[in-house]
Amino acid sequence: MIIYDIRSFDKAVDTTFFSCGQIQLDQYIRLYASQDIRRNVARVFIATPEYDTNQLAGFFTLSAGSVSCSDLPETLAKTLHRYPVPVALIGRLAVSMSFHGKGLGSILLADACQKVINASHILAVAGIIVDAKDNTAASFYTHFGFIPLPSQPAKLILPASTFRV
Ligand SMILES: CC(C)(COP(=O)(O)OP(=O)(O)OC[C@H]1O[C@@H](n2cnc3c(N)ncnc32)[C@H](O)[C@@H]1OP(=O)(O)O)[C@@H](O)C(=O)NCCC(=O)NCCS
Repeated sequence: MIIYDIRSFDKAVDTTFFSCGQIQLDQYIRLYASQDIRRNVARVFIATPEYDTNQLAGFFTLSAGSVSCSDLPETLAKTLHRYPVPVALIGRLAVSMSFHGKGLGSILLADACQKVINASHILAVAGIIVDAKDNTAASFYTHFGFIPLPSQPAKLILPASTFRV
């Protein structure tokens, strides 16, 4: 079993050979992650295997966001009266192809959700939104209970009622 170190992005990690199967996500971590951090538009977290802490195995990003109440699934919208609705956003989540199918995607998703739960003690969110880049990504998230937004099926939400605060 591989043990991973999950920590904030640092420039020492080698992003050169990172390839997850989605070129936009590979380019993001190589070229744009540092900028986003500097500009306070995303926090970026990386996973490296314990045996090589410079080898990038996966990453995810977290940001604050909002969603219109009218875009939410009806069961959730009817419990909310405020507009816009505050949410946490997992903007990107990716695992290097050499680590696919070994549980790292679920570890990263669980870690991202735990970080949101911790933050939500002081900054309320009605749920966690993810941006699925394609149908395969969307099915990964529905596997974990995320629900597509009816008006934008590439965005999915995990309502706060499903996680304990
Ligand atoms: C999607 C991705 C993150 C999955 O990572 P992974 O490390 O291979 O996934 P895991 O090994 O942790 O799989 C965890 C569970 O999800 C399931 N799963 C993985 N990919 C899935 C998919 N596309 N659809 C449905 N279920 C999926 C696995 O079967 C496994 O189920 P189990 O726990 O019941 O056995 C990875 O394939 C990836 O980086 N893809 C390219 C980038 C991407 O699409 N990112 C997501 C959108 S931003």
